[in-house]
Amino acid sequence: MTFATSQSAIRLDGVRKEYTIEATRVEALRGVSVDIPEGAMVAVTGKSGAGKSTLLHVIGTLDRPTTGQVFINGVDVSSMNDKTLSRFRNQSVGFVFQMNNLLPEFSAVENVMMPGIIAGLPTTELRKRAVKLLESVGLGERVEHKPGELSGGEQQRVAIARALMMSPPILVADEPTGNLDRKTSLMIQDLLLELVRNHRMTLLLVTHDMELASRLPSQIVMEDGLVVHDGVVH
Ligand SMILES: Nc1ncnc2c1ncn2[C@@H]1O[C@H](COP(=O)(O)OP(=O)(O)OP(=O)(O)O)[C@@H](O)[C@H]1O
Ligand SMILES: [Mg+2]
Repeated sequence: MTFATSQSAIRLDGVRKEYTIEATRVEALRGVSVDIPEGAMVAVTGKSGAGKSTLLHVIGTLDRPTTGQVFINGVDVSSMNDKTLSRFRNQSVGFVFQMNNLLPEFSAVENVMMPGIIAGLPTTELRKRAVKLLESVGLGERVEHKPGELSGGEQQRVAIARALMMSPPILVADEPTGNLDRKTSLMIQDLLLELVRNHRMTLLLVTHDMELASRLPSQIVMEDGLVVHDGVVH
C-alpha cells in the first residue's frame, strides 16, 4: 500500500488494463502500483509486449485503467469525465512517440502551436512561443517547413517542441529515438534530457536502448504486465 505525498507527480494504485478483442482477452497490465516523485527521470524497459506503452498511455490519460487508480499531481484522473480529462491532458502531459504524429498539412510552427490552439489560446502569443521553442531545438530556420520537408531527426525535434508547448509538468516519451540513426538519436536524446532538466519536468521514457536507459537516474523494468523492478529514486 502506498500513500500520496505532495511530491508525487504520478501514482498508480493496483492498475489493471484488459483489452478484449472478439473472444480473446489480453491483460496488458496486471496490477501495477508505482509512485513517481516530481522531477524524476524514469526509464521504462522490458521485452516487447510487456505493457510499457500501455503503462505510458494510462499515465498520459490516453487510456483508462480497467480497474485501479491513477493520480497525476495528486488528482485522481480515473474518475474524470472525458471532457475534463482532455483539458487536463492538454495542460499536464506532453507526448513524444516513435512515430511523431505530426500533422502533414501544417508547418512546423503550426504543429508546435497545436496544443495551444486546442486550448483556445490567442494565436499571436502561441506563434511567438512556438518559434522560440523551435529555436531551442535548433530549428529556427525551419519554422515554415511541413513535416514532409524535414528529416526524421528534425521531425522528432518538432515533436519535442510541440510536447513542451503547454509547459506540462509531465513528459512521456515512447521510443522517441527508435526510428533514428545512432548519431541523430544521441543528439535528440541529449536535447530531450537537457530540456526535461531545464524545465524540471517529470519524465517517463520507454526504450529498448539500454545505453539510453542507463543515462536516466531511475529505472522501471516490466515483464508480462507487471513491474518486476521498481528502481524509482525518491
Ligand atoms: N489496443 C489494444 N488492443 C488489444 N491489445 C492490446 C492493445 N494495446 C496493446 N495490447 C496488448 O497488450 C500487451 C502489451 O502491449 P504494449 O503495447 O503495452 O507492449 P510494449 O511493452 O509497449 O511492447 P513493445 O516494446 O513491442 O512496444 C500486448 O500483448 C499487446 O498485444
Ligand atoms: Mg510499446
